[in-house]
Amino acid sequence: MEATITASEITSAKGLRRLVMVTATDEPSARLADRADVDIILVGDSLAMAALGRRNTLTITLDEMIHHTRAAAAGGRRALLVADMPFGSYQTSVAEAVRSACRLVAEGGAHAVKLEGPRYDEVAAIVAAGVPVMGHIGLTPQSLHRLGGYRVQGRDIDQASSLIEQARSLERAGAFLLVLEAIPPALGAAITLAVAVPTIGIGAGPNCDGQVLVFADLMGLSDQPLPRFVRRYADLAGTIRVALEAFAADVRERRYPAEAECYPDPPGLADALTKQLGRE
Ligand code: KIV
Repeated sequence: MEATITASEITSAKGLRRLVMVTATDEPSARLADRADVDIILVGDSLAMAALGRRNTLTITLDEMIHHTRAAAAGGRRALLVADMPFGSYQTSVAEAVRSACRLVAEGGAHAVKLEGPRYDEVAAIVAAGVPVMGHIGLTPQSLHRLGGYRVQGRDIDQASSLIEQARSLERAGAFLLVLEAIPPALGAAITLAVAVPTIGIGAGPNCDGQVLVFADLMGLSDQPLPRFVRRYADLAGTIRVALEAFAADVRERRYPAEAECYPDPPGLADALTKQLGRE
């Protein structure tokens, strides 16, 4: 069996190779990502919107995240599997944060967890409990209401300096990697230079150590307006629609199933059934 990439291998990759991360919500998306040789599969809480039709990430629960992480774990082999800690699972106390992280590993099968914002004590305590932690700064969607919307962060020098400080402090707390979301490219480059752990950008410009996209956005599955940083690599929604329309037309026009798609009738059964029905 192929060895899983470890969090420390990911950290050591800084400066040597670009890192590829993609989100997954279930076994098929994780299996396809894994077989495409991505380095990290993130069961992101964005699945609240991408897979569950919610308006934002705030309502997804720890139990739901465990459920999806478990499904993704069934599809993964080589990639490092990281589970997002959902809103409410780490904000109330350090002990609660450690408990939630342990559940994502023990019940979900995650290899590491990700949490949002400058939560240094929580990061240090989870790492001390034996679970690698990925930080996430810049636009942190769980703070949607405080931020007043999904806005680019770090646009002035004070905000930018504060994000650089957050990155350094998360590194000191033990984070093995940092996700940088929706910040100007110059700040993405500056944070990447300021820390020894890798950075993975999502709307943070080309100079991060790697990039991540949400599976549904990358595959063209979403019917929502997409952020500026998304590049669609496929139109799966279009492909699926064409396939479903073809199936519906074949059923309605009696073209499906064809003979080759049916189990053969045992000899004599059709005649016997006709006789039996004739008698009733
Ligand atoms: O939930 C998610 O998909 C994420 C990525 C955007 C990094 O946190």
